Amino acid sequence: MTLLQGKNILLGVTGGIAAYKSAEIVRGFKKAGAQVQVVMTRNAQRFITPLTLETLSQNRVMTEMFPSSYEDEEEAGPFLRSTSTNLPEIDHIALAQRADVVLIAPATANIIGKLAHGICDDLLSTLVIATKAPVIVAPAMNCNMYEHPVVQGNLEKLKSLGVQVIEPEAGFLACQMEGKGRLPDPDVIVTFVVNFLHNRQRLLGKKVLVTAGPTREAIDPVRFISNRSSGRMGYAIAKVARQWGAEVFLVSGPTALAAPPGVHLTRVETAAEMREAVLKYFPQVDVVIKAAAVADYRVKEVKDQKIKKKDSGLVLELEETPDILEELGRIKEKQVLVGFAAETQNLLSYAEEKLRRKNLDFIVVNDVSRKDAGFEVETNAIQIVYRNGKVTDYPLMPKEKVAEVILGEILPFLADKETQNRHRGE
Ligand SMILES: Cc1cc2nc3c(=O)[nH]c(=O)nc-3n(C[C@H](O)[C@H](O)[C@H](O)COP(=O)(O)O)c2cc1C
Repeated sequence: MTLLQGKNILLGVTGGIAAYKSAEIVRGFKKAGAQVQVVMTRNAQRFITPLTLETLSQNRVMTEMFPSSYEDEEEAGPFLRSTSTNLPEIDHIALAQRADVVLIAPATANIIGKLAHGICDDLLSTLVIATKAPVIVAPAMNCNMYEHPVVQGNLEKLKSLGVQVIEPEAGFLACQMEGKGRLPDPDVIVTFVVNFLHNRQRLLGKKVLVTAGPTREAIDPVRFISNRSSGRMGYAIAKVARQWGAEVFLVSGPTALAAPPGVHLTRVETAAEMREAVLKYFPQVDVVIKAAAVADYRVKEVKDQKIKKKDSGLVLELEETPDILEELGRIKEKQVLVGFAAETQNLLSYAEEKLRRKNLDFIVVNDVSRKDAGFEVETNAIQIVYRNGKVTDYPLMPKEKVAEVILGEILPFLADKETQNRHRGE
């Protein structure tokens, strides 16, 4: 197996009972062709010896922030051998720089807490702060510890910073209790890392523009017209596109969501502002996914002062907002253009008409009359309609899974465009 050929994996092992599984994790990575550098905390060495992991990884196991000396460079192993000088390198920086990925498995409540708060009091916690490589943690602990709000809060903090978390499994634990907290089997962990590194290549070098959320169209200084879009679908697409290696520009209407890690976020309010931001990024991007629910209408005359209540009722005159997607369809050159149709009836016929009129590559349809799909919920059930008339149905899924489906469908369009460009250049 050469799935990880040429990859440098830095495996951090911390002081939990599941540390014995790290031996099999090292074996799995070696079998997949990776170079493995193990870093153990002092407490991890109470559970498994460095000698075991050293033998399996064929590499010196690092344990100390301040090693007494490392005069013999050969002894340092390929991760640490200095290249340009005879001086030994600083371990935590050299390790941090050479890793393609840092995995901590098992990750104790302690290391999770330290990482969430930037505490660097040993080699492992310091190099995680010093690395630009992606970080994956696999928490393993007693179920009460795992459920503790402070551990859950720390994990949320790490996720918001872009750290990947391999969820522990539920079952019978070493402490004789039953619950969630068990480290998944080593092959599950190795597969997670293989898939993670593979996915990071899928949109590498591509630029993706995503729009999300509703827009707000003012009526007067205190009131506006808007819709129920929460922005979750667009934010999920932006997050997954970034995980797949793309540079992502997210143009968002007002939402309560935090920007996904590593994504360039532009916040806008009105359809006109969204148009302006989208047109700014459009020429440089390869893909545009318009998941925003842009208001179709705005008030023709926005009042400067708050409208006072009258007995005679109130009539607002509305005018159409700019149709951003239609404009992009008209001016598009190299871009793959994907739209959304949120409908409550005649889903497919409305979607097909929109697909053609707006010159899209495909359109994602969701039935927003369903309680479990579309606006304000964590899940979505979509259909994808293509220009050749093909329609694919997908079951109800979390929005992140839907994002993976949509981005996966974009890949062949990008490959086609690359082939066309190559032929044009010949
Ligand atoms: C027998 C034993 C088993 C332990 N298992 C775990 C565990 O599975 N998960 C965990 O978070 N802490 C566990 N601990 C507690 C940690 O070892 C302790 O919090 C330690 O400070 C972790 O240090 P480290 O994160 O630097 O390795 C265990 C302690 C003992 C004595």
